[in-house]
Amino acid sequence: MTRSMMVKLAALALILALACVPAGAAVSGNLEIFSWWAGDEGPALEALIAKYEATYPAARVINSTVTGGAGVNAKAVLKTRMLGGDPPDTFQVHAGQELIGTWVVAGRMEDLTFLYEEEGWMNVFPAGLLKLLSTDEGIWSVPVNIHRSNVLWYVPENLNKWGVKVPATWQEFLEIAPTLQAKGVVPLSLGENWTATHLWECVAVAAMGPEKWDQLWAGKLSWKSPEVIEAWKLFGEVIKYTNADAPSLSWQQATDMVVQGQAAFNVMGDWAAGYMATTLKLEPGVGFGWAASPGTNGVFVMLSDSFGLPVGCPNRENAIAWLKMLGSREAQDIFNPLKGSISARIDSDMSLYNKYLQSAAADWRTNVIAGSLAHGVVANERFMNDFATVMEIFLQTGNAEAAANAAEAVAIQSGVITR
Ligand code: GAL
Repeated sequence: MTRSMMVKLAALALILALACVPAGAAVSGNLEIFSWWAGDEGPALEALIAKYEATYPAARVINSTVTGGAGVNAKAVLKTRMLGGDPPDTFQVHAGQELIGTWVVAGRMEDLTFLYEEEGWMNVFPAGLLKLLSTDEGIWSVPVNIHRSNVLWYVPENLNKWGVKVPATWQEFLEIAPTLQAKGVVPLSLGENWTATHLWECVAVAAMGPEKWDQLWAGKLSWKSPEVIEAWKLFGEVIKYTNADAPSLSWQQATDMVVQGQAAFNVMGDWAAGYMATTLKLEPGVGFGWAASPGTNGVFVMLSDSFGLPVGCPNRENAIAWLKMLGSREAQDIFNPLKGSISARIDSDMSLYNKYLQSAAADWRTNVIAGSLAHGVVANERFMNDFATVMEIFLQTGNAEAAANAAEAVAIQSGVITR
């Protein structure tokens, strides 16, 4: 063999060897992901973890979860870790003020603009969503989904049996509620404190409309205004028809009451569709039905789960590989059909989504969009924590004026509005 042939062969061998190195070989070691997607809420996240570990066989994911709907427990643990200098590699955080008004203002997140540029994400996520993830200084997390907050859930067959229709307004609900009660059925199931706030936002958007809702968060409508007091009063009427043991129930248990025929309706975000379709294996449209929560037809109250890169995380490169995967069309289309949410991207493959999710996607494109309070879009964490106390005061006293006054004080203290 001539010398030049040997060189050629060696070069060929090198090319072949490189071709055999899996794409993810550079990523190895641990990746700690922090979220509240535990137990019943876990399958969609677990599918993403499986994809990550298959792409990067030398990496090991530490799936740190703190159970509890809406992250009420997880966020407290995260705060201790972040302030104590022990951040996870990446964590679940809602797009909007929960991200920007909590962690970005405190200088705890890395700017991810480079990733958006590298991956061409500027054009695949809707402009409104990008706005919720950004400040003038950067883009601060990667969204995995769009959830809808204002959904009314029911079992069609049960409503037929009880002779009631899906209420289009809260007035209609209040008219049919006594009929249901007389049959021994709870008209509206409810769970722990945060689910009351979730219901409150749906009632408030119905009572004041999406424009005034926006004005409230822009500081242009007072928390003590007649519109907000009316919303509290309507909320007070509605919760008269909820179960007495609400404070001790998780959101899943409140959903179960509907599925098992103890309650007629429940208002919850569409992770309930994920729970009913993925965990309980119910068929959308048969095992469960849905409508916009009363008085909100044509409005999509949105929220988005995202993951960010905390400053000083131990495994930065692995976290970047995770974030890169999350933003991809493929990962979003694996995660969302299981989760009960739609892809945050505009180019998802809708054939992978069930009937409920197809209808949510159509509404997302055509409805008026409003931001969720209970899930961090319009308010920072300080406001959300203190609003839980306002809610407790109202649940104890039923006093709309007192709740409105307390909420105004909380909005000022937390910097949500300035007066
Ligand atoms: C929301 C979150 C959803 C779901 C829900 C119930 O805050 O965005 O993904 O987990 O809480 O826990």
